[in-house]
Amino acid sequence: MTLVFKDNREFMKALAAAGELVTIEQEVDWDLEAGAIVRKVCEEKGPSPLMNKIKDYPGHRYLGAPIATYRKLAITMGMDPDSSIPQIAAEYVKRTNQQPIKPVLVDKKQAPCKENIITGKDVDLFSLPAPMVHDGDGGRYLSTWHFVTTKDPDNGDVNWGMYRQMCYDSKTMTGPLLPFSDGGKVFHGKYRPRGLAMPFATVIGPDPLSAIAACAPSPIPEPEYTGMLMGKPVELVKCETVDLEVPAHAEIVIEGEILPDVFLEEAPFGEYTGYRTSPRDLRTVYRVKAITYRNDPITTISNMGVPTDEGQLLRSFSLCLEMDTLLRSQGIPITGAFMWPESTHHLVVIGVKTIYSNIAAQIAQLVFGSKLGPWFHMVVVVDDQTDIYNYNEVIHALTTKCHPKKGIHIYEGAGTPLYPFLNFEERLKMAGPKVLFDCTFPIDWDPLSEVPRLVSFKTVYPQEIQEKVLANWEKYGFKAR
Ligand SMILES: Cc1cc2nc3c(=O)[nH]c(=O)nc-3n(C[C@H](O)[C@H](O)[C@H](O)COP(=O)(O)O)c2cc1C
Repeated sequence: MTLVFKDNREFMKALAAAGELVTIEQEVDWDLEAGAIVRKVCEEKGPSPLMNKIKDYPGHRYLGAPIATYRKLAITMGMDPDSSIPQIAAEYVKRTNQQPIKPVLVDKKQAPCKENIITGKDVDLFSLPAPMVHDGDGGRYLSTWHFVTTKDPDNGDVNWGMYRQMCYDSKTMTGPLLPFSDGGKVFHGKYRPRGLAMPFATVIGPDPLSAIAACAPSPIPEPEYTGMLMGKPVELVKCETVDLEVPAHAEIVIEGEILPDVFLEEAPFGEYTGYRTSPRDLRTVYRVKAITYRNDPITTISNMGVPTDEGQLLRSFSLCLEMDTLLRSQGIPITGAFMWPESTHHLVVIGVKTIYSNIAAQIAQLVFGSKLGPWFHMVVVVDDQTDIYNYNEVIHALTTKCHPKKGIHIYEGAGTPLYPFLNFEERLKMAGPKVLFDCTFPIDWDPLSEVPRLVSFKTVYPQEIQEKVLANWEKYGFKAR
C-alpha cells in the first residue's frame, strides 16, 4: 500500500520525521526575507522552511523549497528518503505505466479549500502574502509552486501546468504562458483566435504529487497522471465561478479568466536557468473572480535561481523519463536517460548499446525533435559501459571518447526565450541551437587492437582478486562502503 499525502500538511509531517523540515516561529518579512531563506536552502540542499508568522499577514504561513532535493522527492512518493535516483525513477516509471486513474469529485463540504470563499468586489490579491521573492523582481509573485488548470474548449481535456504569476493589481495577475506548453497551445491556438477568455484556476499549495504531475511533460491529463502517481484517484472539487475542478485539499485557489486581447507588463524574475533573463514585457493577463482558501493557509514558495530548485530537479527528472519512454518506444537500445538538476535541465545524458554506427546522431535527432526539445540543448550519448548517473564516469567518457572534430554535432532547433547564452534577438525568436557530444567509440574499431582498454578496478583485475579485496576492505583498515 503506497503512502499518499492528501495535502502538504501531511507531507510536512513526513518531511519533519526525516529531518527535512525546519519550523520558523519568529516573524519573517514577505519582502525579500522569506525569499532569501528559501534561496539559501536551495543552494545548501537543506530542509524545507515552514514559516509560521509572516509580517502583515496574521494567520498565513509559508512553506519554502518543498521538493528541491531527491530526498524530498523520495518522501513525496512514500519511499525511504535515502533511496537512490534510479530507485526513485524505477518506482515513478512503475506507477506511471499503470492505467490512468480518473479523479473523483467530492462535495464542497468535504473540501478544505472551501473553508474561506471570497468573490466579486471583495477579491483582493494583496490579502494573500505574495512574497517579493528576489531583489529586482518586477513585482510580488504569488504563484511559484502551484499549478494553473484550464480546459480545451473543443474536447474538454484538462491541463495542469506551472506558469508563474505576478500580482499586477488587486484583481489581476500577469505571467508568461509559453506557446509550446500544453496550456499555452490551447490559449494561443484556440481561445485567442476565437476572441474567447480562457477560464483558469490557480492552485497554490497542492499536495506534492499533484504538483509533480503538473510540471511533468506527460501527454496524459494531469489529474489522471496524479492518480497514477498516487495509486488512487485524486479528490477534486468544483470551482465557485468557473467550470473547472481543483484538488479539494489545496491551500489556496484563485479563479478567473485569462483575457484574449489584453496583455500587461510582467517580469523581470529570477528564473530556473539561474539568471534573470526575461525583460519586462507584455504577458498573459489573469483576471481574478474568486479566491478560496483553507484556514491558516500555507503559500508554497519555490525560489528559482542557481541550482537546485524544484523546477530544475523535477523537470530534469520527468523530462528524462519521458525521453527514456520515447527512445524505447522507437526500439533504440538505451540503458537510460538522465539529467543532473545542476544543468538546469539543459544537458541530458543518454546511455546506449552501440549496435550500429551513428546511433548517437539518431538519438539526438529524436530527442531534439520531440515535444521536449525546446527545454534543453545538450545531448551527451555514452555507451553501456558508462553509468549515466555517475558524474565521474560521464565526465571521463566526455573527455576521453568524444572526438572534438567528429564527435560534436551542431543542429538548429526550437528553444525557449530563457536561454542565457542567446542574444536578445535570438531569444525573441526562441532560437534553439543544439549540440550532440557523441561519447562512444566507433563500432568498426577492433575491440582488441583498436578500442583502448579502460583501466579501472572492475575492468583490469581478475574476478577473484576483486572479490578478495572487497571482502578484506575493512580488515585493511578502510571504512565500510
Ligand atoms: C516552478 C516552475 C515555473 C514555471 N513557469 C513557467 C511559466 O511561467 N511559463 C511557462 O510557459 N512554463 C513554465 N514552466 C514550465 C511548465 O510548467 C511546464 O512546461 C509544464 O508544467 C509542463 O506541462 P505542459 O506541457 O502541460 O505545459 C514552469 C515550470 C516550473 C517547475
